[in-house]
Amino acid sequence: MNIIVVENEQVGGREGYKVFEQALANGANVFGLATGSTPVTIYENIVASDLDFSEKTSINLDEYQGLAGTHEQSYRYFMDEHLFNKKPFKETFVPNGLAEDPEAEAKRYDQVIADHPIDMQILGIGQNGHIGFNEPGTSFDITTHLVDLAESTIEANARFFADKNDVPRRAYSMGIGSIMKSKQILLVAYGESKADAIAGMIEGPVTEEMPASVLQRHDNVTVLIDKAAASKLSQKFDVKA
Ligand code: PGA
Repeated sequence: MNIIVVENEQVGGREGYKVFEQALANGANVFGLATGSTPVTIYENIVASDLDFSEKTSINLDEYQGLAGTHEQSYRYFMDEHLFNKKPFKETFVPNGLAEDPEAEAKRYDQVIADHPIDMQILGIGQNGHIGFNEPGTSFDITTHLVDLAESTIEANARFFADKNDVPRRAYSMGIGSIMKSKQILLVAYGESKADAIAGMIEGPVTEEMPASVLQRHDNVTVLIDKAAASKLSQKFDVKA
């Protein structure tokens, strides 16, 4: 893994942006995208740039079940607000949170991914090591599926909702098997609350109990973290300011 340690999220936004810029220069056509607070500064840098995605495809990692794309907490809404409305793509895919048949929706999404192999995938990481919404214990081989969210995930995401009880209990997630097929992966994490997950991912055993540890088996991963998220690694790194 190529590990980049930065002073803060602002520097992280610039460094992450450079990874996108390089992927575009290398001819990437399909971008796997993520929501959450972590990618925001990267998307800000992309929006402020003259990079052109108008012939590119995006495929998002996940979506809450039960929320319409127009709901302010849906991931479709997040992506429209933070990126797509300001930086147009040719086509953008997010699971349909209102799909009536979850199995059919998962199949449809797997077909989307099969039809558009992902060149570069950006990932956040949960405090419990989840990637996408693949919670601890999920098979490394799984494809798109409907997930019962872990209690810690619901608590972590409650900050975006008026009330914790409003957080959906289920979400569609791209599977770890699909994430691992991306040609290149950029995993980003900030803050001390992610330090244990980052240490487990990089220095711990590869185990389904720590979903992100599977990335040790991928040959093109960049890990972009701030000092706080790097604080439990045994290796020491130069910090980019
Ligand atoms: P966050 O979420 O970027 O809001 O911290 C990351 C994740 O849970 O994967």
